[in-house]
Amino acid sequence: MADTVTLNAENKSYEYPVLSGSTGPDVVDIRKFYAETGMFTYDPGFTSTGSCESAITYIDGDIGMLLHRGYAIGDLAENCNFEEVAYLLQHGELPDKATKAVFEHDITYHSMLHEQIHNFYSGFRRDAHPMAIMCGVVGALSAFYHDSLDITNPDHRRISSYRLIAKMPTIAAWAYKYSQGQPFIYPRNDLGYAENFLHMMFATPCEDYEVNPVLSKAMDRILILHADHEQNASTSTVRLAGSSGANPFACIAAGIASLWGPAHGGANEAVLNMLNEIGDANRIDEYVGKAKDKDDPFRLMGFGHRVYKNYDPRAKIMAETCKEVLDELGVKDNALLDIAIALEKIALEDEYFIEKKLYPNVDFYSGIIFQAMGIPVTMFTALFALARTTGWIAQWNEMVEDPHQKIGRPRQLYTGPTERDYVALDNR
Ligand code: ACO
Repeated sequence: MADTVTLNAENKSYEYPVLSGSTGPDVVDIRKFYAETGMFTYDPGFTSTGSCESAITYIDGDIGMLLHRGYAIGDLAENCNFEEVAYLLQHGELPDKATKAVFEHDITYHSMLHEQIHNFYSGFRRDAHPMAIMCGVVGALSAFYHDSLDITNPDHRRISSYRLIAKMPTIAAWAYKYSQGQPFIYPRNDLGYAENFLHMMFATPCEDYEVNPVLSKAMDRILILHADHEQNASTSTVRLAGSSGANPFACIAAGIASLWGPAHGGANEAVLNMLNEIGDANRIDEYVGKAKDKDDPFRLMGFGHRVYKNYDPRAKIMAETCKEVLDELGVKDNALLDIAIALEKIALEDEYFIEKKLYPNVDFYSGIIFQAMGIPVTMFTALFALARTTGWIAQWNEMVEDPHQKIGRPRQLYTGPTERDYVALDNR
């Protein structure tokens, strides 16, 4: 690849350096572009724009590759627990046995919420969406931890990061408990991360909940699959919010808000709603037709990805996990799974989907697993948020430590009125 790229405009020539990462496409460094040419670049949706330097996650969408700190997602999902992956994302290396034990202890011992956090829940309606509660409660944490909000202090950043990772399952499970009108269940220090989440979701003060190891393993794997995904919309939101120096709790609340949308984390909820709406394998053709119709806004939820133009590697593991969970629960005939499998097959053989390189993404099967576990549809995106917090906070830390970091401030192509005379109210 060339060392520089030359741009010719209005009889002038400008040279821009080309930078290379450890792998992946080179980037053209246009930081001086505006100062030198007086022009902005235009890239809505950042389809060609690298917004930062990062050493955390690498995706090659053409071949369906996802690496965290160099490790393939399949290897991590098969061999690690979520805590190890969380450590890897935060610290860059997999922990040895002693370090793993210390990390798990630190996370476990930060999983309780301040007692006054209860009051935030009771301010919500019982039918509030869990993501609304998550946005509010996570943002509110910054009002509880004044002792660790100096973002220039690495110890403060570490303790805030651990608090966020540790408290997220409690916050999410309590959003569910609140919706059910059941008492909040406290975390237990003898349980692992995924087990604890299931315990807080399903135990009651009257009856303990025996955590099924197959289900907790599946939950652990789902959390790993959602832990980080490079500079996606919510991660970029966390970075943009943090670029002004905002505290990590506020930044993660911003990430949760971005994740909520149906084009992003809300897709797992949308997939299940879509499968229910289809209702019968005989209607798949009708829905595939709607997805292909330019005049119909309907899209096949759980299909397509900005980066993956091949099978999402997480979707493969998710499909296997789905089977394991349904087998364990003795679910023989699952109408939604049957529709999902038939829909996937038809879409993968259809010229429209082949030409546009639309494959199932991570969300296509996750909803079916959650539903089989007894997790309500509205909690799906909250689960995604709890898993992604570890990626968000690793990316936030990396940004704060980056010596080139600046406040994020995109430019625009202005198409509104040019300057005009003010018209007094009586004359309008
Ligand atoms: N169903 C039907 N057609 C689709 C779909 C779909 N799911 N996804 C993309 N297309 C079509 C578009 O209509 C477009 O066609 P055109 O070129 O004729 O205009 C083409 O494929 C490219 O689509 P874009 O929207 O330009 O692609 P983009 O990269 O902006 O969007 C996205 C990616 C948002 C994920 C999109 O594929 C989508 O909406 N999918 C459904 C929602 C979903 O599953 N989201 C989860 C994403 S993964 C995650 O966040 C964990």
